[in-house]
Amino acid sequence: MLTKQTYIVFLGPPGSGKGTQARILQKVVGLPHVATGDLFRHNISQQTELGRLAKRYIDAGELVPDDVTLGMVRDRLQQPDCAAGVIFDGFPRTLEQVVALDELLADRNGVVLALMLDVSDAEVTRRITGRRVCRNCGAVYHIEFNPPKQAGICDVDGGELYQRDDDKPETVRNRLYVYYKQTSPLIGYYFAKGLLVKVDGDAPPDRVTARLLKVLEEHGIKPVMEPSY
Ligand code: AP5
Ligand code: MG
Repeated sequence: MLTKQTYIVFLGPPGSGKGTQARILQKVVGLPHVATGDLFRHNISQQTELGRLAKRYIDAGELVPDDVTLGMVRDRLQQPDCAAGVIFDGFPRTLEQVVALDELLADRNGVVLALMLDVSDAEVTRRITGRRVCRNCGAVYHIEFNPPKQAGICDVDGGELYQRDDDKPETVRNRLYVYYKQTSPLIGYYFAKGLLVKVDGDAPPDRVTARLLKVLEEHGIKPVMEPSY
């Protein structure tokens, strides 16, 4: 049960497991999962103007400009399901975004906790290049660590599994470079505010979830249900 608005921010390199853990925790703590990458990909699949703009940057492994990202996040936070807080995944990602988020949250009397998933470059590269995603429901698999029952087919709804365009090895290298250059300074930002907790993400997903739940409990964020995988 949450008494204050709660904002959980997942930090960590591409492929560190932010989406995997945020999807599990949204049910456990009862907060919506707001993933800017998923919002952009939804706009791309719907062929919106925002999607067309974002695609150019995403395919190159570059960040979408801050004003575009911030406009999209502001709209999302206005929706009623965000009234008690959210779990951010992939946002904020630049110093400009983190400052804008702090301003946005200043009126909301909320608590912020930044969870940094610590995973080596070699491991994230393995995870990203083996990732497959369902075209229908967005369920995420890994060809080695979390394979579907039938290759190329989603267990949930039978949809086709595809590889994200930005998960090709040549783009992954640039995404990691962009992460170190533009996003990793946020680790220092949250550390300086006393809001950062580093969690070892180099373990199977259920063990990482258990580590995260321990941290959440230590910060007064109690589960409302058991995790399911
Ligand atoms: P986004 O979609 O946010 O991608 P990302 O940060 O690069 O992160 P990923 O989704 O690749 O990894 P993840 O940490 O979520 O890992 P996952 O759980 O899937 O952004 C994409 C693009 O959109 C950006 O490059 C940028 O262009 C744009 N964008 C997004 N947000 C933006 C912003 N705020 N500002 C500007 N631009 C923005 O796991 C990866 C794989 O590993 C999966 O296959 C999974 O099954 C597997 N796995 C997960 N955990 C484990 C584990 N513990 N053990 C083994 N395998 C695991
Ligand atoms: Mg993700």
